[in-house]
Amino acid sequence: MVKSVLYLLCMVSVKNVKNRSSSLFYMQMTTPIAIEDVRREVKILRALTGHKNLVKFYNAYEDEDNVYMVMELCTGGELLDRILSRGGKYSEEDAKVVMIQILSVVSYCHLQGVVHRDLKPENFLFSSKEDHSPLKAIDFGLSDYVKPDERLNDIVGSAYYVAPEVLHRSYGTEADMWSIGVIAYILLCGSRPFWARTESGIFRAVLKAEPSFDEAPWPSLSSDSIDFVKKLLNKDYRRRITAAQALSHPWLAGHQDVKIPLDMLTYKLVKAYICSSSLRRSALAALAKTLTIPQLAYLREQFILVAPNKSGFISLHNLKTAVAKNSTDAMKDSRVLDYVNVVSSLQYKKFDFEEFCAAAISVHQLEGMESWEQHACRAYEFFEKDGNRPIMIEELASELGLSPSVPIHVVLQDWIRHSDGCLSFLGFVRLLHGVSSRAAHKA
Ligand SMILES: *[C@@H]1O[C@H](CO)[C@@H](O)[C@H](O)[C@H]1NC(C)=O
Ligand SMILES: *[C@@H]1O[C@H](CO)[C@@H](O)[C@H](O)[C@H]1NC(C)=O
Repeated sequence: MVKSVLYLLCMVSVKNVKNRSSSLFYMQMTTPIAIEDVRREVKILRALTGHKNLVKFYNAYEDEDNVYMVMELCTGGELLDRILSRGGKYSEEDAKVVMIQILSVVSYCHLQGVVHRDLKPENFLFSSKEDHSPLKAIDFGLSDYVKPDERLNDIVGSAYYVAPEVLHRSYGTEADMWSIGVIAYILLCGSRPFWARTESGIFRAVLKAEPSFDEAPWPSLSSDSIDFVKKLLNKDYRRRITAAQALSHPWLAGHQDVKIPLDMLTYKLVKAYICSSSLRRSALAALAKTLTIPQLAYLREQFILVAPNKSGFISLHNLKTAVAKNSTDAMKDSRVLDYVNVVSSLQYKKFDFEEFCAAAISVHQLEGMESWEQHACRAYEFFEKDGNRPIMIEELASELGLSPSVPIHVVLQDWIRHSDGCLSFLGFVRLLHGVSSRAAHKA
């Protein structure tokens, strides 16, 4: 079952509304393609169209030989060509404008449960030749649905932009964030972070090499811009920032065009928090007390998006309503709505902002920061003050969800303090990460 796709690109005049005309402008035939893939692309485009940084989709038709897709014609050329025409790099201010638009559309896709899987400067077009014309994401041919707790495994994308975990065949929306990191790197310095002559050489670099920030122009760029790129190009996808977090990063925060959307990562973390033991929850509360102002700013945005009541409390039902308000058909097809329904059906009291921070803090991301040691040590001090208590080795093993086959007395002896039987610093850090056995039961 193989067909061809014809992209019919239309120019719709918006300037003259009375005499609105849409003229068929251009046709492009791609190579034959599997019909299921095209149908998925159409479904995704139909659901997502309307975002200002996404190519407009008008309609699609199918006859015996072809699929016809009627879409907006963008005449401003590829982002790649603009980069090249500027001699390779953008000023920080101009790079920000590009990044905000990319993150805006990608955060929207991710919330809907769609991963693009082929983000690169060739897949962003300027809608017209004017200087400030909006950037539009195109080509959702490799896009797919992904549920928040699901991992995809097919290797797709373009070598220079592919994330390490895609090469390891286990990935989700974070893979797009890596590609955005590569684009940001190129925008700011004009060269690729991972380069080799052969495809296998590029893959090796993606998996093993650290991108350089030593050569010009990096030393003259702001430390915020470097931190931003590094947080996207983190090889550990659990430590990489999400699109909503990238929009809240100090490099972009405060820019007039930034609008921070809901982040599905919050839902994943809140779910894990609710399913954790009360001991782990108090460890997370201690960690949340060490958060810095930018970290709190992002959490504050997320909290407000969930719409707290007048006294500043949110319920799990609020979490669901906040997502439902923004749901498209893609959110049903990706089963993000099902996931959110599961979260909102858990039993838990309402959250104030302080507890929300404890619930929505990502231990992995914090651990990826240079200041992790300080966070962990200060958190342990807080925990000592109001949470640490003697614990039996068997109880700790069950807290951490260790299987009975683990020789717990050997493994856990350093995690409990010999003097008083309370958690040691090591045990505390392990607990922060831990999946409790209760969570394992519920899953
Ligand atoms: C908000 O929720 C909290 C917790 O359920 C409740 O105690 C408080 O009365 C509510 N405030 C308002 C204004 O509804
Ligand atoms: C979500 O919906 C609200 C209200 O309809 C809207 O203002 C907001 O821009 C939407 N956010 C996203 C990320 O779509």
